[in-house]
Amino acid sequence: MLYDFLGVNEKGNLTISGSDAVHLAKKYGTPLYVMSEDYIRGACREFHKSIDKYYGGNGMVLFASKAFSCKEIYRIMMQENCGVDVVSGGELYTALSVGFPTENIVFHGNNKSQDELKMAVDNNVGRVIVDGLSELDMLDAIAEKANKTVSVMLRIKPGIDAHTHEFIKTGQIDSKFGLALETGEALEGVKKALEYKNINLKGIHCHIGSQIFGTEPFESAADVMYTFLAKVKEETGFCIEEINLGGGFGIRYTELDSPVSYDMYMSKVAEVMQRKSKELGIPMPKIYIEPGRAIVGPAGVTLYTVGAIKAIPNIRTYVSIDGGMSDNPRYALYQSDYEACIANKAAKPRKFLATIAGKCCESGDLIQEDTFIQKPKSGDIMAVFSTGAYNYTMASNYNRIPRPATVFVKEGEKSRIVIRRETYEDLVRNDI
Ligand SMILES: Cc1ncc(COP(=O)(O)O)c(C=O)c1O
Repeated sequence: MLYDFLGVNEKGNLTISGSDAVHLAKKYGTPLYVMSEDYIRGACREFHKSIDKYYGGNGMVLFASKAFSCKEIYRIMMQENCGVDVVSGGELYTALSVGFPTENIVFHGNNKSQDELKMAVDNNVGRVIVDGLSELDMLDAIAEKANKTVSVMLRIKPGIDAHTHEFIKTGQIDSKFGLALETGEALEGVKKALEYKNINLKGIHCHIGSQIFGTEPFESAADVMYTFLAKVKEETGFCIEEINLGGGFGIRYTELDSPVSYDMYMSKVAEVMQRKSKELGIPMPKIYIEPGRAIVGPAGVTLYTVGAIKAIPNIRTYVSIDGGMSDNPRYALYQSDYEACIANKAAKPRKFLATIAGKCCESGDLIQEDTFIQKPKSGDIMAVFSTGAYNYTMASNYNRIPRPATVFVKEGEKSRIVIRRETYEDLVRNDI
C-alpha cells in the first residue's frame, strides 16, 4: 500500500484510517472523496516539527488551500496552528466563514481584482502577496482610502527551473506569476513598496512549482532569494524580515515515486539559509512555507462504482466508473499518474490491465491508462489513491454531473461527512 493509513481487513476490503471503503461506498454512495484526517493532521505536525528543529520555531506553516478548500479544512488548520494561503475572494470567504484568524491568512493571486484586494484590506489579512507593479499601486490606493497600512510580501521569480510538468512550473522568467529579478523589476517593486505610505514591506516570496522531488531546486531558490535580500539591503538600506519559499513538495502517486522526506527538504534549505546568513552578515529572516499537496494529497482516496467494461481485443480494456474528469481532471490536464484497486478485492493481486474511463462525453476523460487492478466486474468498488489535492477543488459540473460528497475518516472514530453531495437541484439553482 502507498501509505500507512491504508490497509486490508478480514473481509479482504480496503481500509482507510481503519474505515472499510466498501462500507463507506454503501453508506454515502459513489463517487465519494474519502480523506484521512489522521494523515492531514500528521503532515501539519511534521512541517511544524521541522520549523522548530531547523529554524528555532521562527517560521510559519501556511496550508495552500487551493489544494483542498472547504470549511472543515480551515477549522483543522486553525486547530493545528497553521496559517493558510488563499488565492481568491472565494477561498478567503470560506476561511472567514469559520472565523479563521485573519492575521494568519496570506492572500495570493496574479490578477487580484479591486474587490478582492478591498476584501483583503477590509478583513486585515496578515499578508498580501503582491504579484506585480500595478497591483502595488492599486493596493496602496485601496489601503489609503481605508486609512490602513497593509503588510505585503513581493512575489519574486527566482529563475529556477523546477523539473516538473510545464503547467505546474512557476519560478522561471517566462511565467505569469511574480516580478522578475533579471530585468530589475523585483528591485523596482521593493523601492516602490518602500515609498508607498500605506504599504508595509515585510517579505519576499517565491514558489517554483509543484510535485518537485529533489531538494536542489528548493536550495537554489533559497540561495537566490537570500542573495536578493542582501542586494535590497545594499541598495536601499532596508532589511527584509521574512522569506516565504512557497510549496511544491512532491508526494507518492504510485509505487515508482520516491520523494525525499519533508524533514530532508527543510534541513537542506535551512543549511543554505544559515550559510547565506553568515556569508552576508544578515540575520535569519522568519521563514514561511506553503505546502498544499503534501498535506492533503496522500490523504485522499476516491471511491467509484464500476459500470461498463469493454474489452477491445489486442488494444485495451476500458473499465468505466461513475465519475471521471468531473471529479478528477488531473489525468486529462497533465497525464498525472495514479494507482487504483478494487476495494472489495483488495487482498487479491493486481494483475488485470485496465484503462480506467470516466463517464463524461470526452474521449480524454480517463483516470489512468494501462494500469494494473484486480479483475473487475460491474458493481465493484474502485479506489483511486492520492486524490486529496487538486481533485475536489478542480472538480466541475461538466455534463451536469453533481460533485461528490467528501467524508473524513479517523482511526478509532466514526466517519463524518464534511461536504455534502451536490443534488440536481443544486445544479439548476442559479439558472433563470
Ligand atoms: C504560491 C503557491 N504556494 C503554494 C502552492 C502549493 O503547492 P503544492 O500544492 O505543490 O505544495 C502553490 C501551488 O500552486 C502556489 O502557487
